[in-house]
Amino acid sequence: MKIAILRERRANETRVAVSPETAKKFVGLGCEVVIEKNAGAGAAYTDAAFKAAGAAIAKDSAAACKGARMILKVQRPAPAELDAMPAGAVLVAMLDPHRAGDELQAIAEAGLTSFAMELMPRITRAQSMDVLSSQANLAGYKSVLDAAGEYGRAYPMLMTAAGRINPAQVLVMGAGVAGLQAIATARRLGAVVHATDVRPAAKEQVESLGGKFVAVEDEEFKQAETAAGYAKEMSADYKKKQAALIAETLPKMDVVITTAAIPGRPAPKLISAAMVKSMKPGSVIVDLAVETGGNCELTEAGKVVVKHGVKIVGHLNVPGRLAADASMLYANNLFNFVSLLYDKESKELAIDWEDEIVQGTLVTKDGVVVHPELKPSGTAPAPAANVAPEGAPEDTAEEAESDG
Ligand code: NAI
Repeated sequence: MKIAILRERRANETRVAVSPETAKKFVGLGCEVVIEKNAGAGAAYTDAAFKAAGAAIAKDSAAACKGARMILKVQRPAPAELDAMPAGAVLVAMLDPHRAGDELQAIAEAGLTSFAMELMPRITRAQSMDVLSSQANLAGYKSVLDAAGEYGRAYPMLMTAAGRINPAQVLVMGAGVAGLQAIATARRLGAVVHATDVRPAAKEQVESLGGKFVAVEDEEFKQAETAAGYAKEMSADYKKKQAALIAETLPKMDVVITTAAIPGRPAPKLISAAMVKSMKPGSVIVDLAVETGGNCELTEAGKVVVKHGVKIVGHLNVPGRLAADASMLYANNLFNFVSLLYDKESKELAIDWEDEIVQGTLVTKDGVVVHPELKPSGTAPAPAANVAPEGAPEDTAEEAESDG
């Protein structure tokens, strides 16, 4: 079975869908691995390292894809990228399916059987394939470092001959995978950490990491977790009470990391412009929910802005800011998933269409979008046009810094 791994073309994407280790493992399973030239450059994986792992290097995406049975990518290919992909191949990537608009239909019409790694069921058997966790964990860690880089003070308490530095007060909003890692990282750096979430299960997790839990713990809060372990959209009444508590807490904070998300929906707006105004000058907000609209009303996607004396960091693709580790973990997630679709004896694809993991992640098959949550309704939003043309240098988007 030939597996093609392509260079990523979307703006801000530094990751790659294979590591030298997973290339070697695929070769060990009897697969032919062909990687597009310079595909690993953003993650510091060289073509030489891939060759040493037993992969071949192709000069462009068409050469990589020729005769491929499977195509691995980080992000959803844009329609222009589909031309290189042979009909009948299996495509595995983070398709960002809820925001893909008509692009899912284009993938279906290209004759690709596609799987979206973000739709991985959160069951024990699929934990090693869970890209949301592997990437969010790194984003949570990096968010605390990004905040430290913008914050003009130290995190830990320091007793010096010249005076005492008080520890930074950090608030983490949303204590899921990214938030819990942010809490642990901020604690390791010596900050006093507070955290908020709408799921009751988060309270114990926050406290076990040494964080102080801040939340409106009413009857609705006790029911706020879905069977899948995610947050529900909260009622207007709850949101009002939550906003009052946040408004009271924010002026006491130095650094705020926001990670709140509801799968398939825009991020909840938790920090209004007025709340930003109430914060101390020099404090920092890092908004990890920027790609789904942001948790703060004043966040600008891809920028660091200063509003009312508060720095608001809206970096896009935060896992991609740790491209080597993010690629390594993502590549491992992909290897574990592809192993499930592959028969080691016949060395061919052998997909069990009844498998819960296959059914949960399958998006297109036989020319149509098949996932029940994604079938076209005619109201899908238009996808962002952030694809660099073929042959353009990688990741040309610059992060702007501006004073607002
Ligand atoms: P996510 O990325 O969808 O959301 C991040 C966090 O934001 C969640 O904790 C959510 O409760 C919170 N949130 C949503 N609306 C909010 C609001 N209005 N105010 C404050 N917080 C709000 O979630 P993530 O990080 O992907 O994981 C969600 C849960 O799933 C966690 O409990 C996690 O531990 C669990 N999980 C389970 C796995 C398994 O295999 N069983 C694997 C990974 C995560």
